[in-house]
Amino acid sequence: MSEARTLPGFREFYPEDRAVIGHIFDVWRQACRRHGFREWEPPVLEPLELFTEKSGEEIVRQLFNFEDKGGRKVSLRPEMTPSLARMVGAKANGMPKPIRWFAIGENYRYEKPQKGRLRAFYQLNADLLGEAGPAADAEIIALCAECLLGFGLKQSDFRIRLSDRTLWFRFLARLGVPEDRAGLALAVVDKLERGSPAELLTAMTAALAGLDADPSAVLQGSREFAAARSFDDLARLASGDTAMEARLAEWKQLLDALAAMGLGECVAVDLTIVRGLAYYTGFVFEAFETGGEARALAGGGRYDALVKKLGGPDLPAVGFGMGDVTLRDLLELRGLMPAYADGPDFYALILGDDARKAALEDVAALRRAGFRVEYNLRDGKFGKLAQAAEAAGAKYGVIYGGEEVARGVAKIRSFADRREGEVPRSDLVPALRAVLEEGIDAVSP
Ligand code: HAM
Repeated sequence: MSEARTLPGFREFYPEDRAVIGHIFDVWRQACRRHGFREWEPPVLEPLELFTEKSGEEIVRQLFNFEDKGGRKVSLRPEMTPSLARMVGAKANGMPKPIRWFAIGENYRYEKPQKGRLRAFYQLNADLLGEAGPAADAEIIALCAECLLGFGLKQSDFRIRLSDRTLWFRFLARLGVPEDRAGLALAVVDKLERGSPAELLTAMTAALAGLDADPSAVLQGSREFAAARSFDDLARLASGDTAMEARLAEWKQLLDALAAMGLGECVAVDLTIVRGLAYYTGFVFEAFETGGEARALAGGGRYDALVKKLGGPDLPAVGFGMGDVTLRDLLELRGLMPAYADGPDFYALILGDDARKAALEDVAALRRAGFRVEYNLRDGKFGKLAQAAEAAGAKYGVIYGGEEVARGVAKIRSFADRREGEVPRSDLVPALRAVLEEGIDAVSP
């Protein structure tokens, strides 16, 4: 009966779960809008080469790809950045810069499902294109932080670990690794914390094949370089290297801008972050829950070459992706998920067929006025209807009996304390608005 179950790593959302996702989307969207970002959306299915050529090896192994009925090689999107680079590239010349775009959507990666990692997950993407200086990096990192703070998390609840592929490229060049091979070496550095010494050496040897560089010296040097945890550590590593020293001036601008925005506490220098994706070129970062073992909440960085590689103009870019899975775990752990309340504002209790026509007129008018209204589709006794109304989550009932309808009124009942009031049907919309704002006392008993 495998068809009776969901596929591994895919979720189904009952309304209570969908409400959680809805809350996450709302907070993300509000934060992005407050920062002046505009919403866009890429296709779910894309030509396979978009990802095999642009995303890097790790993602390529995880693609949900297949051949469509027209014989095209296609893939579900594992991420949105290559689609963004193509879309912006196609119209960049006519767009005012910088371009601030965000998207919220589901991505698909054939990973081993585990805590914090699924095969279908939602992701917020926010990207800023057209500005090469560190002010843009600061803006994106600040937005990443605000997207977490918007849930009620405190700066001490998470860390945005900040690193720099530009410094790494320069450092690797000094060890004899040219820039076009640095990506491969950094994919090994990315595993420094997880891999065994033997595995790491084998991987580094493969990454440096054909070069003069000594794999164990590169590994050892990388370990020391990766240990930097402060601006002073960076300054020590850069000392005497003019290119690195010049880069540190940009680090200072970035850190100063974040401090000015009041975000100094959640940002930390950490050169172990190098990012698995192939296209990153400068500052990179990942956000983690403080002290936890969980996988990253968000990751991003600068990718200045991607738009041009996809046929567009030379357009600098920086952005991040934030997933819903680890974020939801963290919000639940901290008790920051609002209680589920999805009931109607009012439930019309229609008692008898004589009252139904008048009640339906009012229900339709109330709905058009913006209230959430349910009513009994079938006749029933008052007690049963009141139970149904409370089970639906309604706080108030609007009661239509033959006698009320004959007098041109409806009765309003508060289910919490069973108090009632009466309203002329001609006044229903303003009266019920007052009830929602002030409670049952807003209508006369
Ligand atoms: P990423 O680091 O691959 O970056 O993903 C960003 C975030 O998406 C992760 O930190 C995590 O929260 C979530 N995520 C990724 N894979 C999974 C998964 N299998 N299950 C659950 N959550 C997952 C990117 O995707 C880049 N395209 C981000 C970016 C945008 N860079 C520049 N602009």
